[in-house]
Amino acid sequence: MEKYLAGKHIVLGITGGIAAYKSAMLLRLMIKAGAEVQVVMTPSAKEFITPVTLSALSGKPVVSEFFTANSGEWHSHVDLGLWADAMVIAPATACTIGKMANGVADNMLVTTYLSSKARVFVAPAMDLDMMAHPSTVENLRRLRSYGNIIIEPAEGELASHLIGKGRMEEPENILKVLEDYFRRQVSPSPLTGKKVLVTAGPTREKIDPVRYISNYSTGKMAYAISDELASRGADVTVVSGPVSVNASEPSVEVIGVESGREMAAACEARFRDADIAVMCAAVADYTVENPSEVKLKREGNLPPEIKLVKNPDIARMLGEMKAPGQMLVGFALETDNEADNALDKMERKNLDMIVLNSLRDKGAGFATDTNKVTVFTRGNAVAEEFPLKSKREVAADLADIIERRFG
Ligand code: PMT
Repeated sequence: MEKYLAGKHIVLGITGGIAAYKSAMLLRLMIKAGAEVQVVMTPSAKEFITPVTLSALSGKPVVSEFFTANSGEWHSHVDLGLWADAMVIAPATACTIGKMANGVADNMLVTTYLSSKARVFVAPAMDLDMMAHPSTVENLRRLRSYGNIIIEPAEGELASHLIGKGRMEEPENILKVLEDYFRRQVSPSPLTGKKVLVTAGPTREKIDPVRYISNYSTGKMAYAISDELASRGADVTVVSGPVSVNASEPSVEVIGVESGREMAAACEARFRDADIAVMCAAVADYTVENPSEVKLKREGNLPPEIKLVKNPDIARMLGEMKAPGQMLVGFALETDNEADNALDKMERKNLDMIVLNSLRDKGAGFATDTNKVTVFTRGNAVAEEFPLKSKREVAADLADIIERRFG
């Protein structure tokens, strides 16, 4: 395996949480990967792990205060910030995250963070309720919007391990994120600068002002794809039905729509400029012909009759518009005769690739944090079948396949 961390300067920031013991392992992995690591601790981190352990592992004195007490030597947070090729804060407590989000520079770690020009990676670790508190959620959102990368365990993984949100990501996975980051600097993704259109979530087809027809899509799969492609440098626009998930990558543009017709209009307007379109939305196939202007009443002998008409097939419409060089990716959500139906959809809609997920597979499809997919690509007789994974990992597999087309 290539050593992308070799010779890299990394500031490892450690804050006061139980997970601080894992930082020693992370440090060891970084050193093993060839990095030069400077540990910076908050004063309370020393309650959880000793500086002696960390300086022995890093081969450098640990920095914690602005001055060395006995000699009066000044530790320059500015120099340290500029020295770093990356800064990793693991574990990051709610307190430090709050200080970083608000520029409260009252210790060596936060001042170094504010002085750093390097990419900053933050691995939160705290109690479940603290993690869910609106102030923490808002502070993390702000850190993301400043361009920092938040490293958290995939939700699917949390569910399968029955461990709560808030647990610090495992050191091996933090190291992998860093390796990916430095690998991308050496060989940027062929998706860099590519314009990508993603459709997400369900659509709502109005019956009257208070009722609608919809489905169980949450948008989790589509937003995971959007984040993954954006993290590889693509310029991503999501045309999204009503969902409660958000994009984690600050560069992702979200255009909110409600009905299938609105989604079709938004996609039609943007597809010409796109290099890639990923149709992940669960668009209602039918809409209500004449939605009522007023709330339908219960009174009367007969239930109201609702006449349905076909919604535009957005994937098919884009398939007809597709110009040479554009890539169109569809999804197939099936319950039976899966492969045949998926291949038929790829053909009918003129897709270049179709991602099959079946509701017969446990943990796949709607609403779950995981998915299990089989990918068919045009002109390739052999399908690629993947095991059950978190939706973000599925997104990475799909992005790898899309990259091959542009590589
Ligand atoms: O959102 P989640 O809760 O994370 O769930 C993810 C998902 C199950 C919604 C997703 O993985 C998925 O399978 N999306 C496609 C769902 C779907 O509508 O499949 P379909 O087989 O009915 O449609 C085939 C393709 O045509 C899809 O790319 C779909 O986006 C597209 N389509 C369908 C109908 C329509 N009117 N317009 C379309 O563009």
